[in-house]
This record gives sequence, C-alpha cells and structure tokens, in this order.
Amino acid sequence: MWLASIITLVLSTGLGVKPHAVANTKNATYTNPILPGFFPDPSCIFVPELSNTFICASSSFLAFPGIPLHASKDLIHWKLISHVFIRREQYPSFGNISNNQFGVYAPTIRFHENTFYISVTMFGSSEYPYLENLVFNASDPFDDRSWGIPISTQGQAYDTSLFWEDDGTIYDQGAAGLGIVQWKVDLQSVWSATEGGSGDAEGTAATKHHESIARSRNITGPYESKPANPVLSNVNTTQYFTGTGHVDLFKDAQGNWWGVALATRGGPKSAAYPMGRETVLFPVSWEAGEWPVFDQVRGIMSGPLPPIDLEINAHGRFIGGPDIVEFGPGSDIPIHFTYWRFPISGAYTVSPAKHPHTLRLVPSALNLTGSPNHVLSDGQTFISRRQTDTLFTYSVDINFPAAVENEEVGISVFLTQDQHLDLGLTKLNNGTYLRFRGRSSKEIPPAEILHRVDSTWLAEKVRFQIDAFNATHYRFLAGKVEEDVDRVPLREIAVAPASLVSGGYTGTLVGVYATTNGGNGSTPAYVSRWRYRPRGQAVDYDTWVYPDEYC
Ligand SMILES: *[C@@H]1O[C@H](CO)[C@@H](O)[C@H](O)[C@H]1NC(C)=O
Ligand SMILES: *[C@@H]1O[C@H](CO)[C@@H](O)[C@H](O)[C@H]1NC(C)=O
Ligand SMILES: *[C@@H]1O[C@H](CO)[C@@H](O)[C@H](O)[C@H]1NC(C)=O
Ligand SMILES: *[C@@H]1O[C@H](CO)[C@@H](O)[C@H](O)[C@H]1NC(C)=O
Ligand SMILES: *[C@@H]1O[C@H](CO)[C@@H](O)[C@H](O)[C@H]1NC(C)=O
Ligand SMILES: *[C@@H]1O[C@H](CO)[C@@H](O)[C@H](O)[C@H]1NC(C)=O
Ligand SMILES: *[C@@H]1O[C@H](CO)[C@@H](O)[C@H](O)[C@H]1NC(C)=O
Ligand SMILES: *[C@@H]1O[C@H](CO)[C@@H](O)[C@H](O)[C@H]1NC(C)=O
Ligand SMILES: *[C@@H]1O[C@H](CO)[C@@H](O)[C@H](O)[C@H]1NC(C)=O
Repeated sequence: MWLASIITLVLSTGLGVKPHAVANTKNATYTNPILPGFFPDPSCIFVPELSNTFICASSSFLAFPGIPLHASKDLIHWKLISHVFIRREQYPSFGNISNNQFGVYAPTIRFHENTFYISVTMFGSSEYPYLENLVFNASDPFDDRSWGIPISTQGQAYDTSLFWEDDGTIYDQGAAGLGIVQWKVDLQSVWSATEGGSGDAEGTAATKHHESIARSRNITGPYESKPANPVLSNVNTTQYFTGTGHVDLFKDAQGNWWGVALATRGGPKSAAYPMGRETVLFPVSWEAGEWPVFDQVRGIMSGPLPPIDLEINAHGRFIGGPDIVEFGPGSDIPIHFTYWRFPISGAYTVSPAKHPHTLRLVPSALNLTGSPNHVLSDGQTFISRRQTDTLFTYSVDINFPAAVENEEVGISVFLTQDQHLDLGLTKLNNGTYLRFRGRSSKEIPPAEILHRVDSTWLAEKVRFQIDAFNATHYRFLAGKVEEDVDRVPLREIAVAPASLVSGGYTGTLVGVYATTNGGNGSTPAYVSRWRYRPRGQAVDYDTWVYPDEYC
C-alpha cells in the first residue's frame, strides 16, 4: 500500500493514446486534499453516461460501512453517495478480522458496459489465511443496495485493478512482492517494479512512498519502465504533503487528464498526521505517443478544472460541512457515520420511546481496546465520523444514569484499538469520575487522569467536547449541561498530542463509545446534540484555509 503501488498503462494496440486535443486552457486554483481525512488509496473514474460525473472509491480497513464512494461534477465538491460494503451478508467474516491494519484494502472502481465494478482485497479474513480478492458489481452506484455479494477472483496480490482485453478476456492485476502480477485463471508475473517493494514496514516507509510507471501495447507485456521514474514523488523534499503515491488516472469531458493519489500532511519530520492518508488531486499532461507528466502534489494547486457544479442527483452528503445532528424521531443515522467492524444489532436506536431526539447506545462488554477474553465478533459500541479537518470542535451531550461499577460512556479520538484517546464518565467503587485514558502503540501511552465529580453527573446531561486546537494537539473537556445549552461551563481534563494517534494505514475517527469494561452493566446512554464544527485546514507549513472557503 505504501510502496508497491505502480500503475501499468496499456495502450490500445496500434493507436496509442488519444491526443490531448481540445483541452481546457483556463486554469483555476484549488486546494488539496480533495477528500480530507481517512480516505486513502483513491481510485476514480469519469462517467459521461452519468451526466459527466466523477466517482471515487476509498479504502476503509475495519471501518464499516466499507468502501465509501464520493461523486463530483467539478472535482472540487464531493458528495458521499453510497458505500459498496454495507451489509453483513456481503462478507460475514469481516467481523472476525482482528488486525486493525487489515480489512478492506485499496478498492479500484471501473465502469464497463454499463456496469460498475469494484475490485478489492480483503486482508485477514478467516476464509483465507492471508487475503482474498473480491469483485463487486452494481448498476447504480448511487444506491447502496445495488452492490451485491462479491465474487472471489482467487489471485494472491493486493492494490488490484481490472482490465478488459479487446477479445473479452478480463484480468485482475495487483501488487505482489516486488512486482505486478495479473491473472485470468493463473497468476503470471508481467513486470517488476523499478525499485522499492511492499516489504517495508508501515509508517516508517510512509515518507518514501512514490509512484512509478511502465507501459506496453500488450497486457501480457513486455513492459517498458519510464526512464525518469518516479513520476510522482515528494520523497527527498521538505514538502508538507508526504508519501504521495497510489495513483489512479482519468480523463475529463474536456480531454484533460487528472490523477488522484494518497498523501499525508505534516511534512517528513512530523510525527503527527492523525488523519492518515488522504486523497489529493493533480493535473496530468499526456501528449500522444509520450509518457504522462504529473504535476507534483502541493496544498494549493492550479489546473483546468471543470466549471463549478453541485448538481449531483443522489442522496448523500457533501464532504466538508459541519454536523448538526439531533437524532429526531424518524431520522436515519447519517450516511457518513462509521462503526468499527459490524455494528452490534440493537445497540444504536434513534429516538427510542420516551427519549426523543437522542441516540440510545447499549454498552458493549468490550471497550475500545478490546480484551482477550471476548471475541471480536461481539463488537464494540462506538459510533463516529472521520476527522476531516486539521482544526475542529466536536461535542455531544450524554445522559448516562450508570448503575453498575465500571460502566462507562464517553468520547474518543480513535485510530485503532491500539491507538485511541478517550474521555469518559464512569462509576467506580469509590465514586463517579471523569476519566481520561488512552492507548498508543507508537508512544508511551498518556497517563490516566481521574477527575472526581458528584453523582448528579449521572442524573443530568453532560457535554463532552474535543478541540483539535492546533495541527498537533487535542484538548478534551466536559461539563454538566444545566439550564442554558449554549453556555455550559466546560472543564479541561486533558491535552494530548495527535502523534499518539498517528501512523499505520487508518485515519482518526471521532465519536461516542459505551462499554461495561467487561463488567455486568447494561445501562444505556442517551446521546443528543451531536456537533462537529470544521475550523480550518493546514495546506502547508504556514498556510491555512478556513471553513468559509471550503465548506
Ligand atoms: C466469527 O468468530 C466467532 C467466534 O469465534 C464464530 O463463532 C463465528 O462463526 C465467526 N464468524 C464467521 C462468519 O466466520
Ligand atoms: C454481478 O455479480 C453477480 C454476483 O453477485 C453476478 O452474478 C453477475 O453476473 C455480475 N454481473 C456482471 C455484469 O458482472
Ligand atoms: C499479446 O501477446 C501475446 C503473447 O505474445 C499474444 O498471444 C497476444 O495475441 C497478444 N495480444 C494482443 C492484443 O496483441
Ligand atoms: C532519495 O534520495 C536517496 C539518497 O540520495 C536516493 O537513493 C533515492 O533514490 C531518492 N528517492 C527518490 C524517490 O527520489
Ligand atoms: C494550466 O495548468 C496545467 C496543469 O498544471 C498546465 O500544464 C498549463 O500550462 C496551465 N495553463 C495555463 C494557461 O497556465
Ligand atoms: C478510586 O478508585 C480508583 C480505581 O480503583 C483508584 O485509582 C483511585 O485512586 C480511587 N480514588 C480514591 C480517592 O480512593
Ligand atoms: C500545539 O499546542 C501544544 C500545546 O500547547 C504545543 O505544545 C504544540 O507545540 C502546538 N503545536 C503547534 C504545531 O503549534
Ligand atoms: C478495557 O477493558 C478491559 C477489561 O475488559 C480492561 O482491562 C482495560 O483496562 C480497559 N482499557 C481501556 C483503555 O479501555
Ligand atoms: C458479575 O455478576 C456475577 C454474579 O453476580 C458476579 O459473580 C461477578 O463477579 C460479576 N462480575 C463483575 C466483573 O463484576
């Protein structure tokens, strides 16, 4: 995922690439990332048949629903339109995948003869010891229900892509070891990467990630490497965007070529990049008979963008806006809310009887770390949304009449079960506490903070808040909501560095959890007034864009 993503270009026999003829020459400025937050491994297509819509798919690992699809008509405004993996029956053993860097890897979206296809790798499932390659298809990508049960393509590779040969043969291709392999029925090694490999450890390899390219007129090779590889790289620079790679290319209605890639923000020296690998866009020039030339990834870019157009004919939600969620009677859980593995059935109820305008959470025995004594398929009660802004304020009100020792409800900045920062309200044997604790597999975990409160905190609403107040730190606060919901006296409980939740393949989620910590409790929590307010994006060391410019 970090090093081994290499695009193979296959030119149709005899013709080469169509000339860059009627390209738009009027350039506009835009900012990266185009999909901020945990949207790695982008793959995008342009679909003239859907009134000139671009559609991108992203990796999701153990986040569920999996494989989010975003659509745009102008490459700047992206609407979350559906998820490919939305039902347990599509892949039941997903719920048993233990490694938090496993799960749904690197989908590629393609459109062929009026059908949409997603090829994707499921890592760590129980059916196969290591990985299983899947292909989903749908006729309507705007409808979650259109994606069926995937078929297995057998190949042992990842970062896969589908290719349709003129004679109707379909190949699935992917990275394996140091090269690219493809298979109809059998695996066949077609090209070896120029350098790098997939064996490097995650995280440390992040800033070395880059993109190389090779071409052939025949899908089975031989392949010629571009003499001046890599084609896309911020390696050996001090650029704020690092690890650029995992490219997909597509052409717009004007004939302009574009590329998407993943990148992290913070520069090569920063240990804090909590949002993980995000989706960036860059212009590509591709003259007939030549190699494509990629503009290198920066925060502020310019290119021949299509005109602004927000008319995407689908339900969904544009990325970048605030959350103002009241959980009103009859409302659904918002499309961009996320669980870790499958949600526990019955654990999340919008506006239950006698508690309108709340989300009722039934606690799980497992807390966000989990415990060796429980199986993962039991699930964790946690509902979240991605951190999509460098600076944000997230808050919820929670009514939690805890009755049994060790019951706990709270908010979390969550990267994996090994890396999360939690502020909870809990009942211990000697009183009621606000408790801050966290886990980190990268750094020394933060010290536990116990802040005693009186038992009225269990009877009334408590506001919990997280402020990402600069690019590297989070502040955790809580206060009792008395009369005026807009003026709650919040106490600061902890400040934690974002580097505690940086690294690996995933990106941070912020949300609410409820757990018995393995105890005998079952007291539900009632969550209301869910707010997420974007406050700014860092696009270079000293360059920010603010919500009035991007929301
Ligand atoms: C998941 O694991 C549990 C407990 O080991 C097991 O009972 C269940 O059959 C597994 N589910 C699938 C779909 O593999
Ligand atoms: C779509 O997938 C289903 C299996 O879920 C398969 O039966 C069907 O043939 C596929 N359709 C296309 C057009 O590939
Ligand atoms: C590609 O090469 C193979 C092996 O040489 C050959 O059998 C096949 O016909 C070629 N395909 C095309 C489309 O030229
Ligand atoms: C980065 O610099 C090192 C040392 O000079 C060199 O070996 C490597 O090829 C460079 N990598 C890229 C992608 O430019
Ligand atoms: C527009 O942007 C593209 C991509 O960066 C560049 O190749 C082209 O020269 C620019 N055109 C103008 C008129 O600046
Ligand atoms: C209350 O209990 C917790 C957990 O057992 C313990 O860490 C803490 O020191 C106790 N506090 C007091 C004041 O006894
Ligand atoms: C963010 O704030 C923390 C705590 O005040 C400080 O230590 C850190 O240097 C700040 N980070 C940046 C990038 O300003
Ligand atoms: C999680 O729960 C287990 C018991 O099931 C407990 O031992 C552990 O301390 C808890 N840890 C965290 C960080 O939540
Ligand atoms: C749960 O309840 C049982 C039966 O009352 C008791 O034996 C056990 O110690 C309790 N477990 C915890 C973790 O409190």
